[in-house]
Amino acid sequence: MAAVVVVVAAAASCWSLTAFVLLSSLLLFSSKPTFAESDSHALLMLKESFDDDDASALVSWNPGSDPCNEEGKWEGLLCSNGNLEGLRLEGMGLSGKIDVDALILLKDLRYFSVMNNSFDGNIPEINRLGALRALYLSKNKFSGEIPPDYFTGMRSLKKVWLSDNEFSGKIPSSLSDVSRLVDLHLENNEFTGKIPDFHQRNLRSVNFSKNKLQGEIPSSLLRFKGDVFAENPGLCGAQIKVDCNETDKPSDVNGGGGDKNDHRKIIAATVTLGVMLIALIVFLVITWRKKKRKKASNGGGNATENGNSIANIEAQVSLPATVGEVHVVRRTGNLNRTVRASYGES
Ligand SMILES: *[C@@H]1O[C@H](CO)[C@@H](O)[C@H](O)[C@H]1NC(C)=O
Ligand SMILES: *[C@@H]1O[C@H](CO)[C@@H](O)[C@H](O)[C@H]1NC(C)=O
Ligand SMILES: *[C@@H]1O[C@H](CO)[C@@H](O)[C@H](O)[C@H]1NC(C)=O
Repeated sequence: MAAVVVVVAAAASCWSLTAFVLLSSLLLFSSKPTFAESDSHALLMLKESFDDDDASALVSWNPGSDPCNEEGKWEGLLCSNGNLEGLRLEGMGLSGKIDVDALILLKDLRYFSVMNNSFDGNIPEINRLGALRALYLSKNKFSGEIPPDYFTGMRSLKKVWLSDNEFSGKIPSSLSDVSRLVDLHLENNEFTGKIPDFHQRNLRSVNFSKNKLQGEIPSSLLRFKGDVFAENPGLCGAQIKVDCNETDKPSDVNGGGGDKNDHRKIIAATVTLGVMLIALIVFLVITWRKKKRKKASNGGGNATENGNSIANIEAQVSLPATVGEVHVVRRTGNLNRTVRASYGES
């Protein structure tokens, strides 16, 4: 009887031991995969989100191989000591979606570039990768507004390249809070509104050209040369040699009226008055001389009448001449204004 109990107990403990070993090994494999396995899973998820036909550049992305292995690293990966730190998927003809949920699984990802592909639509929520240092989305077809607070949580960000897309709306104000910002490239988009203030001391490379930006270039960007602001018709500032006070005036003139118009009228009136005064003086001098001459020769009553009629003729001759001069003054005034207006617009 006792022997039977012992045997049963031994069998039971053996079973539980086997079960324990099996279970723990299962747990070990499923919940604690190696880094390579979780990265491979995430990358394949990402590849899945791209359009199939266009992802031919990613044939090396295969299940069952280590993404960062020495011999056959997957295409477009930046690895350091076997850790995946960056994705440089440039000029691969990629399109479709960018699965940000997959990117979040790549714990060491600091660098993300999909430059020169065919991605479109709104900016993906890459701002969910709070530890990212460099974001390159240039040369795609991304469009629409970027939310003002998009960059708020991206405290490590140093390089932001959004150039050569179709982004519109205002430059997101949260970019001015990215304290470590070094590069900011927004050229060749459709950004509108004013350029926000950028106080980051390390900011060394910016480009705002070829947008629809308006207003005064903030003084915090005075150190950057003119060409990085070029081809924004509404922008003004010393860097691009457009006086912000001058650019306001052509629109005033176009809108009709304004200070400048009144000034020109006053000048024209003054000149007319001056010319008329000179004509009057000339007329008086001539009349006085005629009278004097007449007095010297005969001194008849008819002579005064004669003298008056000659003076009248002279006055009639000189009057059209003054009117003509006034016209010339006005024309040059108009000419100046047209030149100024077209300069301001270019
Ligand atoms: C962009 O990618 C294409 C391939 O899709 C390549 O031929 C071209 O040289 C790339 N352009 C730049 C500027 O990198
Ligand atoms: C800024 O962008 C324009 C337009 O793409 C380009 O022509 C210019 O060379 C760029 N300048 C700098 C300094 O990046
Ligand atoms: C433009 O005018 C304002 C006052 O109206 C003045 O403070 C500012 O210095 C002027 N700017 C330039 C560039 O002349």
